[in-house]
Amino acid sequence: MIESKDIADYFDATLSNIKPLVRLDFDIHLYFSQNQHMVVLFKKGEIPSAEIIQKYRSKGLNKIWIHKNNFETFKAYSASRTKEGSLLSTLLNSTELGGELKKAAGKEIAKVLLQNATQAKTFQEQQEINKKNFQTIRDILDQTALQAESCISEILKLCDVDPVLTHGINVATYAVVFAMAFGKIVPDLLADIALAGLLHDIGVSQIPISILQTPWQAMDREIFREYAEHVHFSLKLINEFSVSTSERVKLLIDQHHEKFNGSGYPNGYKAFQFNDIAQLLTMADLVDSISNGRWDGKKRTLKDALDVINKLESVTPTPEYFNPEILKAVFYWISHTETSEPLTQVVDTVSSQAKYIKQLS
Ligand SMILES: [Fe+2]
Ligand SMILES: [Fe+2]
Repeated sequence: MIESKDIADYFDATLSNIKPLVRLDFDIHLYFSQNQHMVVLFKKGEIPSAEIIQKYRSKGLNKIWIHKNNFETFKAYSASRTKEGSLLSTLLNSTELGGELKKAAGKEIAKVLLQNATQAKTFQEQQEINKKNFQTIRDILDQTALQAESCISEILKLCDVDPVLTHGINVATYAVVFAMAFGKIVPDLLADIALAGLLHDIGVSQIPISILQTPWQAMDREIFREYAEHVHFSLKLINEFSVSTSERVKLLIDQHHEKFNGSGYPNGYKAFQFNDIAQLLTMADLVDSISNGRWDGKKRTLKDALDVINKLESVTPTPEYFNPEILKAVFYWISHTETSEPLTQVVDTVSSQAKYIKQLS
């Protein structure tokens, strides 16, 4: 049923504002001025496919009308997601899509994000891409919004927010991307990884600023010993301010400076004692730390940071930082861009599946 037949009760937008595969929280109408007729194009609750949106656009339809009561809802909908984020959100929320399809689609999205992320030519460009990629995985955090927000808002008040937050955001983003690329698509796990990424370094707020300004490579034993305490402080702050944080988040944070050869800290875990998900968080942390200059004082793009890691690992007879299988896989994804539009294929696959779901319901 149409909310009102009076065009004055509506505002207009265009079909290009409509995101494929995102469930609508409002009705979308067409208006025919000749006979002042209003019809519903998509109903609240529908998930328009890319195909149907394209079909209407190819027929010359563009202007759509939405009831003014839904203005705020529409604003939030328009601002929320990137194309990859919409798709990811659909995947995560879908109870109908099969596990294998979800995994495959998650992997493809991850590879697209990684390939985009390694296209930056300058550090500034890198920062922009990082921000966009975070927008994509933001929905994952929204899945556990209560847990994340109460925790983050309390704890970040204690921090020198900017550097810690930007680094936390990048680590959360790339740890989630790495996890998806390895076929992990369970929302709770991804939310824990994202939260661990955001919070892993909050303990640096308890370390003297002079120590934080020293790049890792320039730290002497004493400075390093003090700096290494931040892992303990991160966990202490979380235990004090966010008692509901899951044990898995704490485990990931506890291990974010461990190394595959056992020379990391604080526990010196070795090889398979080193949790395989924590290794992904650690890789994201090292990549961003090499990129943002924390490692040796020099800022780099993500691609250059990954090259540094590759060189570090290739000069030692046994791998220092990571399980070689993990590193090999990451390099394979970023260097194999032969599938020019993998995301389009994913959209098509999920679209046809979504259509099938709609027919069933
Ligand atoms: Fe750290
Ligand atoms: Fe870090």
